[in-house]
Amino acid sequence: MARVVLKNLTKRFGEVVAVDKLSLEVRDKEFVVFLGPSGSGKTTALRCIAGLEIPDEGEIYIGDEFVNDLEPKDRDVAMVFQSYALYPHMTVFQNLAFPLECAKVPKAEIKGRVQRVAGLLKMEELLERKPRQLSGGQQQRVALGRAIIREPQVFLMDEPLSNLDAKLRVYMRAELKNLQKEIGVTTIYVTHDQIEAMTMADRIAILNEGLLQQFDSPDGVYSKPSNVFVAGFVGSPPTNFFDCTLTEEGFLDAGEFKYPLPKDLAEALARTSTSNELILGVRPQHVKVYKQRKAEIGLIKAYLYTTEPLGEMMILDLKVGDNLVKAIVNPDFEVAEELWIEFPIDKVYLFDKKTGKSLV
Ligand SMILES: Nc1ncnc2c1ncn2[C@@H]1O[C@H](COP(=O)(O)OP(=O)(O)OP(=O)(O)O)[C@@H](O)[C@H]1O
Ligand SMILES: [Mg+2]
Repeated sequence: MARVVLKNLTKRFGEVVAVDKLSLEVRDKEFVVFLGPSGSGKTTALRCIAGLEIPDEGEIYIGDEFVNDLEPKDRDVAMVFQSYALYPHMTVFQNLAFPLECAKVPKAEIKGRVQRVAGLLKMEELLERKPRQLSGGQQQRVALGRAIIREPQVFLMDEPLSNLDAKLRVYMRAELKNLQKEIGVTTIYVTHDQIEAMTMADRIAILNEGLLQQFDSPDGVYSKPSNVFVAGFVGSPPTNFFDCTLTEEGFLDAGEFKYPLPKDLAEALARTSTSNELILGVRPQHVKVYKQRKAEIGLIKAYLYTTEPLGEMMILDLKVGDNLVKAIVNPDFEVAEELWIEFPIDKVYLFDKKTGKSLV
C-alpha cells in the first residue's frame, strides 16, 4: 500500500509561501497530477515529498510511514525531472543498469530487470545504443526506465514531457499513462499543461499561489469548478466571466444584459452569497449562438468582433457591451454582424464575487 498523505504541508522561501498548508491523500496506485500556473508551488511540493526540500510545517506519509525525517534515498520514491540527464558514454543498457549497480543488486538479476523494463517501454532494440543515437522521445523513455527499474513505491515526475516536441508529447502521454496502469505504481505528476493533466490524471490537484484550489477528477474540475480560478484555468478557450448584481426580482444584472434566473435558484443564491455581487461564468463550448432572436427573454445581443477558424470548429469573438465573449460553433456556421447568444441555465457557473467561491 503506497498512498501518499500530505497534512498541512508548508514551505516558505523568505517571504514567499511556496506551498501553503497543503493537505491531500494520493491513493495507492493512483495517478495524481499537480496542475497550476508557473510559481504555484508544484515543484516545491513534489521536492518536499522526495525529501529534496525540508518543509517548514506539516507531515508527509508514504505508505503508512511518516517520512519527514527520512533521507531522499530512504523514501523509496523515484523522481523524473524535465531535464533527464542520461550518461552519454554509457549504452541504454548501462544507463538502466546503473541505479541497480549502485544498489548492489546481483549481476544476474540486473540483466533480467533491464530486459523487463526494456520490454515494458518497448526499447529492447535500443539497449546497445548510446543516448546520442536516440530520438528525444527514446531518450525520455530511457529516463523513465531508469526511474521504473528501481521499483519504487512512488513515482514523482516533474514535467517529464516538456522538452519533447508537441507530437511526441501527445504520444508519450498515452504511453506513460498506460505504463503507469500496467505497473500500478502510485504516481504524482507535475505539469502546467491542462491538456496533459486532463488526459492523464485519475485526479487533479489544482494549485495557485501555493494553495490547493480543488482536488477532483478531470470531469469534476471541468464541470464543477469550485471557484473562479479553477473555472478560468481549466478548459480552452477559457470560461467567459461577467460581473453582475443579483436583483430583487431574481435577475442577474450584468449592465449590458439581464439574465433571468429560476425563482428557487435566485433564492438559493440570495441565501448563500455574501452579498448581491456575483460572477457569472459560461464556457465558450456552452454559449449558444443564433442569427435571429428566438425568445423574448434570455437572449443577449452580440456583435461579431472576429472569427477564429480552427478546422473542426470555429471560435467566434463577440462583443457584448465592453465584454468580449468567446463562443464555439461549427465551422460552417454562417456569421453575421449581429447575433443573439444564450447561456443555457444548466451550464452556467455562479460565483460569489467577494470570495470567488462557487455558489449552489
Ligand atoms: N530555492 C528557492 N528559493 C527561493 N524561492 C523559491 C525557490 N524555489 C521556489 N521558489 C519560489 O517558490 C514559488 C513556487 O515555486 P515552484 O518552483 O514550486 O513553482 P512551480 O509551480 O513548479 O512553477 P513552474 O510551473 O514555473 O515550474 C515561486 O514563487 C518560486 O519563485
Ligand atoms: Mg516547477
